[in-house]
Amino acid sequence: MNIVVEPARALIGHVTVPGDKSVSHRAVLLGAIADGETEIAGFGRAGDTDSTISAVRALGVEVDERDVDQLTVRGVGLRGLRPPDGPIDCGNAGTLMRLLAGILAGQEGRFELVGDESLSRRPMDRVADPLRKMRARIETTDGHAPVVVEGGPLKGIRYELPVASAQVKSATLLAGLFAEGRTTVVEPIATRDHTELMLVAAGVGVDRRAHNVTVEGIERLELGRVDVPGDFSSAAPLIVAACLVPGSQLYVHNVGVNPTRTGLLDVLERMRARVTVFNRRRLGGEPVADIEARSSSLVATSIDPGEVPRLVDELPLVALAAGMARGQTVVRGAQELRVKETDRLESVKELLRPLGIRMTTSEDGLRVAGVPSRPKGGGVAHAGGDHRLAILGAVAGLVSREGVRIEGAEAAAISFPGFFELLESVSKR
Ligand code: S3P
Repeated sequence: MNIVVEPARALIGHVTVPGDKSVSHRAVLLGAIADGETEIAGFGRAGDTDSTISAVRALGVEVDERDVDQLTVRGVGLRGLRPPDGPIDCGNAGTLMRLLAGILAGQEGRFELVGDESLSRRPMDRVADPLRKMRARIETTDGHAPVVVEGGPLKGIRYELPVASAQVKSATLLAGLFAEGRTTVVEPIATRDHTELMLVAAGVGVDRRAHNVTVEGIERLELGRVDVPGDFSSAAPLIVAACLVPGSQLYVHNVGVNPTRTGLLDVLERMRARVTVFNRRRLGGEPVADIEARSSSLVATSIDPGEVPRLVDELPLVALAAGMARGQTVVRGAQELRVKETDRLESVKELLRPLGIRMTTSEDGLRVAGVPSRPKGGGVAHAGGDHRLAILGAVAGLVSREGVRIEGAEAAAISFPGFFELLESVSKR
């Protein structure tokens, strides 16, 4: 599907975004191994999270879809998942494949995890390695999916993450719930902590120190209810678009503002963006707020490796903002972008090129020479099956002088169904 996004004169209005994808995956996965029912409110319905519902159903868990964003998951207990006859399809969802591998390592039986073409190119040894150290039997296919897990007794470990990845941390901690003794994950750079917060909400003892997290083997967990905040990563394109389109004033309500996710706000502040976070409150275990974004004259900034995990999914948007900021923006320590749904260092450079945005890449980062005016636009943005690229192409269209045609625009629905309609509803022309 191709969609043309025309330039906007301003973005004005009040919107909400779908529930957080990371939290939604975790709510369904933990709900599946919980005792009793888990009510999930504000579930982030999207291609990726639908894959998670299908996966737990294949494992014998009943999920009642009371509404698009209201689910009841009937947990089967910690060790109650049953191997299906065939492979479990994780679709495009890396979070699902990696977290589920951790849970299945502690179940009884043999499980095969497969994914789509993009997911099958992504590295899986990063989860297999710590799980094998815990004595799990797990085979990858040359380091990729299909991944076969044969559940069995596990032993706790102390594991220092070689890459800053919340998915690897979470897979290891989840396996730790089934292990004898303690499992400690050491993370040199903090990554999102939704798993830790949800485990605490489920009554699990989680010992959190400055650079490490420890869990012990448990007998049961019980979630009861999860309220999912709006996805900061889905609010991000709207916030950035409002900063970049002159005359804009846009409010995004009920957004998750967990500090392990909101690095973009710090970056935008340094770029002198007019973004205000207000109405801070808590929803379940997660911090939530409303966000106002207004058009801004941006200046360049630099982003260091320590900051990257807090804005890893927003870096494509940062590249666009940098293209319209005064001065040169440099990002370092972003090598993880090369193993996302596409190689996002190269694919973002390609996408922004027709707009006249000059970006160069290095092994671990990018450099953008900004010009503080509307990019000329026109041209075609190829999403290449990557939802964040389809969304970036749309923001680029709004801020451009000539609009952008997005090829493969349907990819946006992997994280944000209805994105184009929502954007249109706040775009003044
Ligand atoms: C996620 C962690 C991040 C992020 C992904 C979701 C999660 O991946 O990019 O979109 O839910 O844990 P990594 O753990 O690979 O950095």
